[in-house]
Amino acid sequence: MKRDFLTIWDLSKEEIEALLKRTQELKSGVDANKCPLIGKSIGMFFEKPSTRTRVSFEAGIYQLGAQSIYLNPNELQLGRGETIADTARVLSRYLSGIVLRTYSHSTIEEFASHATVPVINGLSDLHHPCQALADIMTIFEKKGRLKGVRLAYIGDGNNVANSLIEASAKTGIELIIACPEGYEPNPDILDRARSFINKEAEGDIIILRNPKEAAGRADVIYTDVWVSMGQEHEAEKKKSKFKNYQVNKELLQCAKKDVIVLHCLPAHRGEEITDEIMDSPNSAVLDQAENRLHTEKALLEFLIR
Ligand code: CP
Ligand code: NVA
Repeated sequence: MKRDFLTIWDLSKEEIEALLKRTQELKSGVDANKCPLIGKSIGMFFEKPSTRTRVSFEAGIYQLGAQSIYLNPNELQLGRGETIADTARVLSRYLSGIVLRTYSHSTIEEFASHATVPVINGLSDLHHPCQALADIMTIFEKKGRLKGVRLAYIGDGNNVANSLIEASAKTGIELIIACPEGYEPNPDILDRARSFINKEAEGDIIILRNPKEAAGRADVIYTDVWVSMGQEHEAEKKKSKFKNYQVNKELLQCAKKDVIVLHCLPAHRGEEITDEIMDSPNSAVLDQAENRLHTEKALLEFLIR
């Protein structure tokens, strides 16, 4: 039975723990010469631009012994009306797995329901689960634990925030989200995570409005762009709504001295985060970006046989 990775819920708590452990091993280089995916081909179907996701997956796939094939949907017959279902069925006959980055999350779900090989979500409008794996790996490395770590997400309740909610629920991170009214994370994702915490886990998810209050309680501060890919038409409105949510020196003055600052990148320097903070000793954004490679290698090894 194939396993997909469309959201964090596709992995159990135990599987996430094992994946982080394997990530540490891979990062330390112990199995650098092993090529568990030798002879396989993995597709990379991207409707949107990407630097980190595309390159970390392509490099990771190569390091595991496989080949990656970049697929621009406009250059496939999809662009001429072939269905997602037929595309998924046919590609499954050639490939051992497919990473998709799409506008609508339903495109990935539809693709996965027809594919007979593992499908990995490389970002949709609703989720960014591969990012969340690298995020928790980075928090673990910097803080030595996940349970009880206080993570303040400051900004838009977007795909990155949604996946952080799920990853926090699964690992016991206490998540505080500071966002303007009307820009909360997806309510269904929030409900499911809260009910998971109530029944099976520890942790907490709090939504508040004041970024300084969130920063004051945090071990980790996280932000993302105010205008995600596909939201360009809302840019001016969002920039004005979020102007008090910038991660800057004034905000960091409310936080603990050893707080770490994360950003999934790409950053819009001068909007959601200042140069000064991005480039400060508190910033772990480059380690976080590097961890995309290591966590994705562990994920590929786990999903693809
Ligand atoms: N963080 C992230 O997914 O970056 P890219 O858009 O460059 O892939
Ligand atoms: N929220 C951002 C994340 C980019 C990695 C977007 O969807 O554009």
